Amino acid sequence: MCAKIALAVFLIVVATASAANLPDKYYGTFDLSHSENFDEYMTAKGYGWFTRKLVTFATFKKVFTRTGSKNLFDYSNLTSKKDVHYKNIELGKAFQGEGLDSTKHEVCFSIITFTLKDGHLFEHHKPLEGGDAKEETYEYLFDGDLLLVRMSFNGVEGRRFYKRIE
Ligand SMILES: *[C@@H]1O[C@H](CO)[C@@H](O)[C@H](O)[C@H]1NC(C)=O
Repeated sequence: MCAKIALAVFLIVVATASAANLPDKYYGTFDLSHSENFDEYMTAKGYGWFTRKLVTFATFKKVFTRTGSKNLFDYSNLTSKKDVHYKNIELGKAFQGEGLDSTKHEVCFSIITFTLKDGHLFEHHKPLEGGDAKEETYEYLFDGDLLLVRMSFNGVEGRRFYKRIE
């Protein structure tokens, strides 16, 4: 009886774990195509005019790469300001990584967790104590062939669309 329950629990855990792999469609290199309401979003975050203009001229790429293991992936956020690489990410498992201070736009460390819900990928950043950065969640989903990244601050949503280049 006990053994049966244990086995059932084990199978459920295995089923859940194997369901939580990054879907194939996310793998690749994506280049920024266009944005919607992004200037408004940055304004809500308190970025000044000069920073917003700099961001307008910056280049942005997102790269999701396979690793040797099916449940681990690498992610890179490549920009002309700074490249950030996260290695061996496991969905649902928090790790410490570089993030950007949302108010001063400086590099700081955050606890980062990627999760998957209804086929959408979520990247949650919780800044470590000390800074005045705020928690932030980026949502990744597909809009046709484009990778859509949604982010919001104080109810102002910015959307950025990325085109697959590899
Ligand atoms: C990617 O980097 C840019 C600037 O280098 C930053 O503003 C943005 O928040 C980062 N995006 C994610 C999803 O981490």
